[in-house]
Amino acid sequence: MKRSILLHPDPRLKKLCPAVDDLSDSLRQLADDMLETMYAAPGIGLAAPQVGEMNRLIVLDCVKPDEAAPRPLIMFNPEIVASSDETNVYEEGCLSIPEHYADVTRPKEVEVAWLDRDGKAQQEVFDGLWATCVQHEIDHLDGKLFIDYLKPLRRQLITRKMQKLKRERARP
Ligand code: NI
Repeated sequence: MKRSILLHPDPRLKKLCPAVDDLSDSLRQLADDMLETMYAAPGIGLAAPQVGEMNRLIVLDCVKPDEAAPRPLIMFNPEIVASSDETNVYEEGCLSIPEHYADVTRPKEVEVAWLDRDGKAQQEVFDGLWATCVQHEIDHLDGKLFIDYLKPLRRQLITRKMQKLKRERARP
């Protein structure tokens, strides 16, 4: 089932999400729903707080649809265990901040540990777009958005435009 995606500004997008301590069927269902929602958007990553669920859970798939088979990843309690000193700049966007994009600098490579859909511990090194995406999504679990990396003026401008968009969408 597709979920609706919260739009910035929303207090739920600014909160720290607690760790998942028991992988229930409803959490697995949430993860499947999030993948469906992400692919439909379309997007390459989605974090649980973006659909109003305050759990440390992210989903991602950075494979370009026309280049290879999809690689949907479900990560419960994802944790960055190592980061490269070398950095990378990507123009980032966010499904909660549609139509706004900005360059963000992050470590080029990160090693991430997580629990998969079956609760099995996984660990992998990501680079390129995958590294940027997984860091962006983990940030969401700590109440951090990509616009928090921008200069205050730019961030305020985007936030004001989003407030206007939300008012327009709320109109009957
Ligand atoms: Ni995002």
